[in-house]
Amino acid sequence: IIADKGQHRHFMAKEIHEQPSVIARALGAWISDDRQRIACAAEAVDWARIPRLTIVACGTAFYAAHVAKVWMERVARLPVEIEIASEFRYREPPLPARGVTMVVSQSGETADTLAALRYAKAQRQVTLGLVNVTTSTIAREADIVLPIHAGPEIGVASTKAFTAMVLCLSALAVMIARKRGEIDGAGERAHVDLLSTVPRLMSETIALEGQFEALARDIAEASDALFLGRGLMFPLALEGALKLKEITYIHAEGYAAGEIKHGPIALVDEATPIIALAPHDALFEKMASNLREVMGRKGRVALIGDGAACRAMADEVWRSVTLPAVDPLLAPFVYAVAVQFIAYHAAVAKGTDVDQPRNLAKSVTVE
Ligand code: G6P
Repeated sequence: IIADKGQHRHFMAKEIHEQPSVIARALGAWISDDRQRIACAAEAVDWARIPRLTIVACGTAFYAAHVAKVWMERVARLPVEIEIASEFRYREPPLPARGVTMVVSQSGETADTLAALRYAKAQRQVTLGLVNVTTSTIAREADIVLPIHAGPEIGVASTKAFTAMVLCLSALAVMIARKRGEIDGAGERAHVDLLSTVPRLMSETIALEGQFEALARDIAEASDALFLGRGLMFPLALEGALKLKEITYIHAEGYAAGEIKHGPIALVDEATPIIALAPHDALFEKMASNLREVMGRKGRVALIGDGAACRAMADEVWRSVTLPAVDPLLAPFVYAVAVQFIAYHAAVAKGTDVDQPRNLAKSVTVE
């Protein structure tokens, strides 16, 4: 395949813009022809009887697993443990009898993730491999292969593979919820309908690119940045910080907003932009009070929220960008686009090599 950037300056830009169609295609592959339910190879697992699911991954794939943990615990009431592959395997953790271990990997070749899969197999786990590259080693060795259908991803910083992973893992959570008796047919249809709205919501967010570009130009001047979120926005804060580090070389940290008082608040000053991922959900009031703590210490808060969130804090924050209001379960898709654009446009402003950042490889096949 000869990859083509189309009208975009970088593969990363193309891959961000592609996401609505990638997600629509992935969902199409994960639902039944009558669009009533989730259909995938993982239905063969006896989900009603397994004690817990372990998900192992690296990098951006690990943050997709972190989103999946929240989805699966909430929708399917399934206990989920998430593990960084390079730590998991050397700890030699005991895994439960009849347990299921899933590895998540865009390339399907990451050495630590592959080793984790082999470890789980040796522990007699049923293994699932959620991958983009279906000809990869992980796809060959996992008991059940689950493709994310993102298409070739060229930019080293993962974008569409992340949201496609989150989409497929969300669909998996819905199927598991049905198998565990947490939702009935109507409940499953409602979740399928909800997931079907994701491409449109992502398109609406992509249309706000100019606002992220303006914000990113200011962030590009900082030497440190902090991303904050709670609940499903915590892994998105981690992913946002990772994206910014990867392609702009700005030092960034992602933190659970409730945890900053236990350390990172000491770093806050007027030079540090604080990117707050704050939809107006059940945790918004807690988040707002965390943000007031940092603003009380002169922190410059860029609020990324929906209309209600931005209205609530408009007079207090440094900058804000208003995203579509969405069901809390869908917020990761919309806020993923936001953090991708912030990192991308900050990198363009700094003039770094967006698609081939220094010291990084698309796929890390060494330990
Ligand atoms: C590398 C890439 C990251 C990626 C990670 C895991 O570090 O630069 O973007 O998230 O590997 O890759 P995988 O192919 O296993 O998802």
